[in-house]
Amino acid sequence: MSFGIHRLWKRYAISLSGVRAGQHVLDIAGGTGDLAKVFSREVGRNGHVVLSDINAAMLEVGRERLINAGCNNVDFVLANAETLAPFDDNSFDLITISFGLRNVTDQDAALKSMYRVLKPGGRLLILEFSKPVFEPLSKAYDLYSFTALPLMGKLIVNDSESYQYLAESIRMHPDQQTLKQMMQQAGFENCDYHNLTAGIVAVHRGFKA
Ligand SMILES: C[S@@+](CC[C@H](N)C(=O)[O-])C[C@H]1O[C@@H](n2cnc3c(N)ncnc32)[C@H](O)[C@@H]1O
Repeated sequence: MSFGIHRLWKRYAISLSGVRAGQHVLDIAGGTGDLAKVFSREVGRNGHVVLSDINAAMLEVGRERLINAGCNNVDFVLANAETLAPFDDNSFDLITISFGLRNVTDQDAALKSMYRVLKPGGRLLILEFSKPVFEPLSKAYDLYSFTALPLMGKLIVNDSESYQYLAESIRMHPDQQTLKQMMQQAGFENCDYHNLTAGIVAVHRGFKA
């Protein structure tokens, strides 16, 4: 549905991660593990990656995929982003959440939990749909999201409702500046964001002092 551009968005987010050999990385709402797979290679055998998701079936798909890819430094942990209950305070150098925060009910609680489990000096990256910054694009994007997307969903997988939800959840998600403020309220410092594809997507970055 993104015409494959999501791969470029993810690659850009990874380029902002600053991930290094030996580090501990947590990918929240990681789904089938696109990011975790790359981080597994980058942190090497002295590093460690946790692929985490609230959905056991999704996590199982991720587990199978990463094990088949030879990623032997990855753990798979069922966790709600709102609490991150299985994880100790100050345990990760890098936390990522890619196209996941939008689905979390209490986003402030999730950001506070991310702050809790991040090590001092650690970095949070949030890749998520955001608010287009170019008005003509914004109109075309709305048309695509609320008309074409549900229609394609109906024609391809006979499910227009999920794609209607997708469009609505994108519309409801906090814009760039609001999310930055939410990160600051959760305790993150030096927060910034990078718009991708004119703000259709943004990568937010914050640090724990
Ligand atoms: C669109 S997928 C994104 C998957 C992956 N991060 C990616 O970028 O391809 C959203 C994921 O968020 C997970 N999710 C939704 N609510 C969550 C929550 N409260 N805590 C953790 N994961 C959640 C879903 O199970 C799903 O796997």
